Amino acid sequence: MADRSYTAPKGTRDVLPPESGRWAALVARFAEQVGRAGYGLVVSPMFEELDVFLRVGESTDIVTKEMYDFVDKGGRHIALRPEGTASVVRAFVQHRPTAVPWKAWYAAPSFRYERPQAGRYRQHHQLGVEAIGSDDPDLDVEVIALQADFYASLGLRQVDLVVNSMGSTDDRSAYAALLGRWLEERIDDLDPADRGTVATNPMRVLDSKRDATRTVTDHAPQIVDHLAPDAAARFERVREGLDALGIAHRIEPRLVRGLDYYTHTTFEFQAVALENAQNGIGGGGRYDGLAQALGGPPTPGIGFGTGIERILLACDAEGVFDGPEASVPVFVVDVTDGATARDLVAELRRAGIGADRAYGGRSMKSQMKAADRSGAALAVIVGEDEQAAGEVTLRDLRGDHSQERVPRDAVIDHLRKRL
Ligand code: HAM
Repeated sequence: MADRSYTAPKGTRDVLPPESGRWAALVARFAEQVGRAGYGLVVSPMFEELDVFLRVGESTDIVTKEMYDFVDKGGRHIALRPEGTASVVRAFVQHRPTAVPWKAWYAAPSFRYERPQAGRYRQHHQLGVEAIGSDDPDLDVEVIALQADFYASLGLRQVDLVVNSMGSTDDRSAYAALLGRWLEERIDDLDPADRGTVATNPMRVLDSKRDATRTVTDHAPQIVDHLAPDAAARFERVREGLDALGIAHRIEPRLVRGLDYYTHTTFEFQAVALENAQNGIGGGGRYDGLAQALGGPPTPGIGFGTGIERILLACDAEGVFDGPEASVPVFVVDVTDGATARDLVAELRRAGIGADRAYGGRSMKSQMKAADRSGAALAVIVGEDEQAAGEVTLRDLRGDHSQERVPRDAVIDHLRKRL
């Protein structure tokens, strides 16, 4: 015996059947839907040079406080991916695909050293898309619509969409300076925990949920009132597109999101049924300066990321998307020497029929119990009698429990007819 036992590291969890079946179905649904819009799967490394992630925002918590970084055996400073966008844009810059927009989707484990709570993990899993190489605001509409339609297809109804615009990089920095000055004048009224952020990243103060700070920021100047005409027109076009597609949304002037790369459109989907702090089930926006920050030519881009764990929590809260039933249709019960079960399950599987069996030479009663538990519709039973006659018994497990004897050689044909 070992002198201690082990559990998954703090803030992580094992996803086991049957929950994992629902998880896989969610990923498959996503792949199918974004595939229909021309997005292709990108699998990028789970770690990158630390520098890649520093580009997503040197004054954000994700980078300064939550990064899983280490020096590898070759002396490289490495970090586990905290999100998907930086890696995909790094891959774009490295491989320079010529057909743009380059449309990528991913299912990416992401790592953030956060304080674990319901819906907040140190390893979470994001489904996301990135469309790189076009600044057409109709692409913003496409990306937001894909996300909205994905949630709707799962049956989620209580999801609010909030949108905002950060304007161009110039708009954004001019507004940050203006807001910084405005907040400085009121610094004593802010919650003490937010005062330091005014100097380092004034826009993050808008994100604070602390009461004293919110009372102040309720009246703060709004970025949507400080956009250059071109940025305002783009935002208008995005909103018009969402209206045209019947996607309800409202402007949230305080939506700044936790990453520094955003320009122009930003958005977040919030599940009404979840706790405030973890109700963001997915969000994204434009990042027109990121490719350049990663050493590429100036290239616009937009995308979203949505956490699998949070989507499933929202589905639980609304009682939707149960996922598939994890069961095989046929269970082979063999109370002879087990050779028929051994051979028959392989034959059935090769013929495309899902089949399972019990192991360890268990009694008829115990094997029938396992058959019932498996959720199979039919049992194929082999006893001494059947074996001697070169037959098997087919037993209905879900309906009338009727039985019939069929030749061993014809079992696949019979099963095909009955399933
Ligand atoms: P984000 O809002 O930081 O955006 O994360 C996206 C989603 O990942 C969140 O809405 C949430 O569902 C999930 N998530 C984030 N952190 C955790 C956590 N600790 N535990 C569980 N779930 C979590 C991004 O990461 C951007 N890369 C999105 C994007 C793509 N923007 C442009 N393209």
